[in-house]
Amino acid sequence: MPAIRRAKITDLHEMQNCNLWCLPENYHFNYYLYHYLSWSELLHVTEENGQVVGYVLAKMDDEPDVEVQEAHITSLSVLRTHRRLGLANKLMNYAHDAMELTQECDNVSLHVRVSNRAALGLYKDKLKYQIADTEIGYYADGENAYKMRKDLVRRGFPKKAPEPAAVKRDLM
Ligand SMILES: CC(C)(COP(=O)(O)OP(=O)(O)OC[C@H]1O[C@@H](n2cnc3c(N)ncnc32)[C@H](O)[C@@H]1OP(=O)(O)O)[C@@H](O)C(=O)NCCC(=O)NCCS
Repeated sequence: MPAIRRAKITDLHEMQNCNLWCLPENYHFNYYLYHYLSWSELLHVTEENGQVVGYVLAKMDDEPDVEVQEAHITSLSVLRTHRRLGLANKLMNYAHDAMELTQECDNVSLHVRVSNRAALGLYKDKLKYQIADTEIGYYADGENAYKMRKDLVRRGFPKKAPEPAAVKRDLM
């Protein structure tokens, strides 16, 4: 069974290749690099015999809200030869864990083609995402997208030290 691990910078070309085989939504290499340099902990791959056979590429919101931390799944795919083995489900769970632990995310969103039965089954039935909106003509070929969202639970350590007053109160 292929292993899942955090992506390394040397995996980015193979992630891009996997994307080219699997999806019509493709990105310049710079965009992979931007994800890696900004949120490397959110990128995961699954590999077999040293070859990347699936990946999840995720990011934090471009316009961050001070109160709510939102993450976004940019892209997910698994090569045809390795589908229905539970790999996408695992990749997504690794990404969710990293979002909760390293970014203290409150929720995660994604877009999916309304006709993508496999991905909808994964997101809705397995991972309990909910449809938040339908975005008309979202894709370049005019197909509509469902915007889906899932609540996460912050599990990281607080980044800010507690206020001195709070510390004093807790000690009393
Ligand atoms: C969608 C995709 C990532 C699923 O990858 P996968 O590794 O085969 O998925 P998993 O084995 O983890 O499947 C998990 C669940 O997803 C659903 N699912 C996966 N493939 C399915 C299919 N062909 N038809 C219906 N449901 C499917 C099922 O609920 C499945 O659970 P089950 O096997 O217990 O029934 C893969 O089909 C793919 O790469 N497709 C092309 C790229 C793509 O569409 N990416 C998503 C863009 S939003």
